[in-house]
Amino acid sequence: MEYLLHKFSHELRNPLTTVSSTIQLIELQHPEVKDFKYWSNISVDLEYMNQLITELSDFSKSEQLHISTFSFRALLEHISLSFAASVANSKVEYTSKISPSINQITGDKTKLQEVFLNLLKNAFDAAYPDKTIYLEASCKHQTICIRIADTGCGITKEQLPTIFEPFVTYKKNGSGLGLAICNNIIRAHGGTIHVESTVNVGTTFTITLPLHQ
Ligand SMILES: Nc1ncnc2c1ncn2[C@@H]1O[C@H](COP(=O)(O)OP(=O)(O)OP(=O)(O)O)[C@@H](O)[C@H]1O
Ligand SMILES: [Mg+2]
Repeated sequence: MEYLLHKFSHELRNPLTTVSSTIQLIELQHPEVKDFKYWSNISVDLEYMNQLITELSDFSKSEQLHISTFSFRALLEHISLSFAASVANSKVEYTSKISPSINQITGDKTKLQEVFLNLLKNAFDAAYPDKTIYLEASCKHQTICIRIADTGCGITKEQLPTIFEPFVTYKKNGSGLGLAICNNIIRAHGGTIHVESTVNVGTTFTITLPLHQ
């Protein structure tokens, strides 16, 4: 299944790139088309399709790790800082507490970064417009524990068992691949990911990661 998805996403990308360049060429040669009704929708839809293909391709590759040893605290601090910057213009409140005892980890840096960005993005969607998000990371017995909690909309009991499945989404423009990717990546690292949620109270994702594979 992973191989097929990889192939599909790759094959879809080429014609999509051609369509995008053609649209740009038409705009360049006939600037008046920009005033056509629905014209701008084309670019928005193309961008969305591109995004979906990227997610499909990420999903197909989520179990292959490129391992290195790096400072996990530095990675989390970097993610945390850029996320804080991205919510600075909203009323969503973000705080984090990253233990100084967290140090080197052996794992796939890019993929782990993707996990936390996905979880923070979900938390933001749930917390928007004015709730809170909290990230906490600590280290105990060679295992790192990361919690991402929000006081957002929460997840119903019926939906909760389905959210890690690929293509399951309850959002208007979601692909439903975010958590499936997170799950694959964390499991490939020998870690665990759990969720607790109450509707209108909030959601907490807890991840454990062994320091070394
Ligand atoms: N923090 C959260 N609070 C409330 N609901 C959540 C949260 N995280 C995930 N969900 C629910 O789980 C569903 C699946 O999440 P997932 O990240 O896999 O896909 P998505 O966010 O819908 O789409 P994508 O991440 O691909 O853009 C979401 O549609 C949402 O209903
Ligand atoms: Mg998501």
